[in-house]
Amino acid sequence: MTEHYLNNTKHFHSVFSDEINFSRPPPVWFMRQAGRYLPEYKSLRAQAKDFLDFCFTPSLAAEATLQPIRRFNFDAAILFADILLVPYALGQSVRFEENIGPVLESLSGNPTLLSRLSPDNVMGCLDCVYETVSRVKSELPSDVALIGFAGAPWTVATYMIGGRSTKDRAPALAYASRKPQELTFLLDMLVEATVPYLEGQIKAGAEVIQLFDTWAGDLSEFDFESYVIKPTAEIVRRLRSKYPHVDIIGFPRGVGNLYVDYVKRTGVSGISIDASVEPSWAAQHLCPLGVVQGNIDPEVVVLGGEVMEASVARLRETLYGLRFIAGLGHGILPHTPPEHVAELVDEIRRMP
Ligand code: CP3
Repeated sequence: MTEHYLNNTKHFHSVFSDEINFSRPPPVWFMRQAGRYLPEYKSLRAQAKDFLDFCFTPSLAAEATLQPIRRFNFDAAILFADILLVPYALGQSVRFEENIGPVLESLSGNPTLLSRLSPDNVMGCLDCVYETVSRVKSELPSDVALIGFAGAPWTVATYMIGGRSTKDRAPALAYASRKPQELTFLLDMLVEATVPYLEGQIKAGAEVIQLFDTWAGDLSEFDFESYVIKPTAEIVRRLRSKYPHVDIIGFPRGVGNLYVDYVKRTGVSGISIDASVEPSWAAQHLCPLGVVQGNIDPEVVVLGGEVMEASVARLRETLYGLRFIAGLGHGILPHTPPEHVAELVDEIRRMP
């Protein structure tokens, strides 16, 4: 953190800086805080031709970003977009199908496809996302931070290789063992595309960046080093050299003890942890290294009530009073009652 925020530090940014007030409850936002659990999201979504069109229409995407901010008392908004806009911008066909999810022209099924993709195609293709960021920025209350994001190279590659959501990322893991050079080439290309994409978001007003590496936990420790740490460290290094004031939160989901290596070796300033991590372990091993974010189980928000209160109580006992952002271990589930989200935010903000 630099002087940039010192005069008017938003609560969200304060946890990364010397301005932190340890007696305040932590800042709070939730992954997938915009989405199908909100009736107003569903009606907005119905105005777009398809999901990509939704992401690429600044008026609609800005509104989707702001909907959860109007409804709930969050400290941050996250840009409404998707990690698969980058493969689309590289030149791969991407579409989203009802009840299936993303469908891409798969790299494992099309041997010549890789040579047709290029980071040069990205220039200009994602300008409408930057337009969404600046629209949101101009409408966002001044005390709410704006988070930009991208998928981390490995996770984006799993979709590019497999062509769709797969149970165990088997196509991508097979590709990693059979075609390690192609995979490295692809990850390098994703770094080349992701850095200018995130710079575009930052220039348009994103103040924090989150890197989603949902499938980092699939890899062996050795491959984790090559396919997660290395490309992520390169993205962080390049963004930091130009934008030292922007905080970067990494989310290598499901990596257990390797969360420690990840923070140390990638240089992220924040680490988002999944629900399997024991909060007291995170307090001891991760808080000394950076800001910790997480990690209530999204299923608990579906249940609500005492179970949800108990989850907050555990965070209160272990992570409150440290450099901590309260959130979920993964995205809000589509069948989550919105009232539970409101109750959870209130509970997080309640100091005993
Ligand atoms: O509110 C927010 O968090 C911001 C918007 C956001 C979306 N996707 C919107 C979205 C963010 C940050 C993402 C990230 C994303 N996208 C990830 C990483 C985080 C994670 O969830 O693990 C991944 C793996 C994707 C790829 C993706 N996009 C899949 C697999 C799917 C289909 C599954 C599903 O939930 O439907 C999507 C579609 C998607 N992205 C939706 C939303 C709101 C649902 C689409 C719809 O409205 O029909």
